[in-house]
Amino acid sequence: MKLILIAARAKNNVIGKENDLLWRLPADFKRFKSITSGHFILMGRKTFLSLGKPLPNRTHLVITRDSTFEVPEGHYTFQNFEEAFTFCNKLNLEELFIIGGGEIYKQTLPMADKLMLTEVEAELDGDTYFPEFDPKDWKITFEEYHPTDEKHRYAFRFVDYERKNSK
Ligand SMILES: NC(=O)c1ccc[n+]([C@@H]2O[C@H](COP(=O)([O-])OP(=O)(O)OC[C@H]3O[C@@H](n4cnc5c(N)ncnc54)[C@H](OP(=O)(O)O)[C@@H]3O)[C@@H](O)[C@H]2O)c1
Repeated sequence: MKLILIAARAKNNVIGKENDLLWRLPADFKRFKSITSGHFILMGRKTFLSLGKPLPNRTHLVITRDSTFEVPEGHYTFQNFEEAFTFCNKLNLEELFIIGGGEIYKQTLPMADKLMLTEVEAELDGDTYFPEFDPKDWKITFEEYHPTDEKHRYAFRFVDYERKNSK
């Protein structure tokens, strides 16, 4: 199973503040939707709560240490990553998308095969970060620049990184 981290980060690695995003970039939402639709998406309990309700057409896997935490039918909770990965492996998933937040990216980056990042061209003040990684370990396989316009306050680039020694 390929582990794919999908995230939007500012130039200083900020990804969120007060359990919310710091930008509204419709083209980024659109890409996120098209990439993750029909797939299983794994997230931390805080990111799940920040969504308000499950995103349509995706199976949500929520990591929490709270064994009483409930999610709607058709979605699942796990008390650690091992349980979640065992569940996915039993289903023979080809890909699992890790959608955040900071705690979850940090713990899964060492296992990730691919990063699909939206690199937002701004330095912003926040409280949650994407973990540092060494660009030497990754090769860029896709890059697309989007300038600012009336719907996009910040310019940004979609950049896909694949781990150099990934199978
Ligand atoms: N820009 C982006 O691409 C992006 C994407 C997603 C989220 N975000 C932002 O990121 C922020 C949320 O991130 P966050 O780091 O605060 O929280 P998070 O990673 O979404 O969730 C953290 C929670 O996950 C659970 N957890 C973490 N590690 C665990 C483990 N090893 N075993 C069991 N449970 C574990 C814990 O839940 P319990 O406390 O219930 O045990 C923990 O409190 C928000 O601001 C959100 O908007 C940004």
